[in-house]
Amino acid sequence: MTKDNELNVLVVGSGGREHALVKSCLSSSIVKKVIAAPGNGGIAQDCPCFPITAEEIPSLVSLAQSEQIDFVIVGPEVPLSLGLVDELEKHNITAYGPKADGARLEASKTFTKEFLLKNKIPSGAAAAFDQVEPALNYLQTASLPIVIKADGLAAGKGVIIATSLSEAEEAVRSMIETRAFGDSGSQILIEECLFGEEISIHLVVSGRDFVTLPTSQDHKRIGENDTGPNTGGMGAYSPAELVGDNLLRVITETISKPSVEGIADEGIDFRGTLFIGIMVTPTGPKVLEFNTRFGDPETQVILPRLVTDPIKLMHCAATRTLSSITLEIKPEYALCVVLASQGYPNSYPKGETVTIEQNSNSNQFIFHAGTKQAEDGSIQTNRGRVFGVTALASSLEEAARDAYALTEKVSFTSKYLRSDIGAKQLKRTN
Ligand code: AMP
Ligand code: GLY
Repeated sequence: MTKDNELNVLVVGSGGREHALVKSCLSSSIVKKVIAAPGNGGIAQDCPCFPITAEEIPSLVSLAQSEQIDFVIVGPEVPLSLGLVDELEKHNITAYGPKADGARLEASKTFTKEFLLKNKIPSGAAAAFDQVEPALNYLQTASLPIVIKADGLAAGKGVIIATSLSEAEEAVRSMIETRAFGDSGSQILIEECLFGEEISIHLVVSGRDFVTLPTSQDHKRIGENDTGPNTGGMGAYSPAELVGDNLLRVITETISKPSVEGIADEGIDFRGTLFIGIMVTPTGPKVLEFNTRFGDPETQVILPRLVTDPIKLMHCAATRTLSSITLEIKPEYALCVVLASQGYPNSYPKGETVTIEQNSNSNQFIFHAGTKQAEDGSIQTNRGRVFGVTALASSLEEAARDAYALTEKVSFTSKYLRSDIGAKQLKRTN
């Protein structure tokens, strides 16, 4: 077991998820020092940030060496699939996150679909194509709506739910022919559309051991009542009470366990987060996708609910001692509202100055996502999702009330938020 205040930690990434991870480092008993690369405006207020992007693998390894880092926590998927953890391991630096072979479970939807079929894990029926004509022929017999997915990483944008045949055909052409999503569309998956409610299941995995983190639900669409295009996520809450004890047992037995076992059977030494997007359909839970990292904004509601030190949990997973951990979860509810720039997920303004009212409530968190610190020290907007504000309270209703009150403390000209985060669940409880 790691002793107190022993680890120098590097957090890789620049979003709200990484700000939450940095805050967990700051309150962890096993962390001596934390740094981030590249970080964002809020992370820079909490720890030293180094201007190296998450894609610059050799520079990140050099940084870890020069800063005498003992433990690297990798936030986003791209460095994982580029083999950051493989490189760190070659230099004897412990990291949390899978190597490139494990990251394929997020980086290739056709690989994952084959894996799901092979391991008899429930998911939608699908077929893979790399040529336009066979894909168009397949569409002739498919029922609508139908889901067209680019195989590779596309920053959450490579999925089109087509409601007409012409829309589906257009999606196929745009992916394979026009490469609307670059090379990630050189292969596509045409998948049966699943109906129901989506939930996020996060597992901390270490080989054949795993721990299930609190359940959560994201809000993917940009507009109120789940309308408009998909985004990275506009808000989340935890726990997702849609998942009662029975359903969680079914998910564990039919999805989580066979996934973790199947990954180990493939010879993949997976030590990191397996985040499973699940559709709860009338015929049971089915896998929508695997991610091999924490969700954003799910992290911003999961980490505040852990009594167990999250950094200890991740370090145990990375060092194959996960079975020594018993997960303790707070009974409180957490709800996070994302503050985006008007126009996201399409074009939006950047460089607007942000004002933030101080808030010292220890159950409330203003996580920076797409912000940067200007030379004069002011905070400016820098990406589509700018903040995630989280409140922890004894009921979901109070968490929602507190989180929405907290959104008022952050101002910038193009601030956009959904006013219905958690509303579906609140309606169910009332
Ligand atoms: P993915 O990147 O595969 O998670 O897809 C992004 C989003 O598209 C998911 O979170 C769902 O909202 C939606 N989606 C993906 N696959 C399906 C499907 N087979 N049926 C319905 N919606 C889907
Ligand atoms: N919030 C969904 C994701 O991180 O992919």
